[in-house]
Amino acid sequence: MTNNIYFIANWKMYGSTTSLNSLNKLINLSRLKKYKRARIIYFPPFTLIKDFVTKFKKTKISVGAQNCHQIENYGSFTGSISAKMLKDLGCNYVILGHSENRMSGETDFDINKKILSAINKNLKIIFCIGETIKEKKNKLTHYVLKKQINNGLKNVKNFKNIFIAYEPVWSIGTGIIPTKKELENNVSKIKKLLAKKTKLKLQILYGGSVNSKNLSNLRNISGINGFLVGSASQNTKNFIDIIKKTIN
Ligand code: 13P
Repeated sequence: MTNNIYFIANWKMYGSTTSLNSLNKLINLSRLKKYKRARIIYFPPFTLIKDFVTKFKKTKISVGAQNCHQIENYGSFTGSISAKMLKDLGCNYVILGHSENRMSGETDFDINKKILSAINKNLKIIFCIGETIKEKKNKLTHYVLKKQINNGLKNVKNFKNIFIAYEPVWSIGTGIIPTKKELENNVSKIKKLLAKKTKLKLQILYGGSVNSKNLSNLRNISGINGFLVGSASQNTKNFIDIIKKTIN
């Protein structure tokens, strides 16, 4: 991996106000010249966003949210949070299209509206795509990636704030990662699909059971600019290990 490398921590529905104490070591690491190329972004639950923004104020670590509503400003949507509200909190990023939200009913159509709303509010978007185990077994992976990319990015004109996170659903939380060949093949397919839409070279991330132990199999995958890390990011020592093993 060359240039900037993205290390993205998705805390999902974990973390409490006491979790912030563990982040000091990471802040120290982020200031070292050796890790200048590391672009670290945290996605805590909504309840902790403000605390994280405050904690990382004088650092180059960014903060994002794990989802947002498709209406970009305000509205009568009980329990929802808009892109405008995230921006107001100090968020610069939002994850959209995560498979855990797709599984609870979010459609490509919903995700597309959310992406457009986040673009309008100048949030950077980590757009998640990936196939299920059933789709993989039925050799539908490329078909699914194409459908998710084309539907999710419909009517998008400005791609500069879009990152693609390839997260095979069967790899999330299972400890199983794709082979180098499989991953490079799917990333190359994603790049071809994106090239039909934009001349910009979007950052491509891999997510799914990334940890410090399997990193040696992932750090040399060509075409990947970083990692979207779930459970291993919730323990700061493990997350630091991932950064150290990637940039050594
Ligand atoms: P795990 O790293 O726990 O497999 O989760 C990946 C993920 O869903 C990140 O968004």
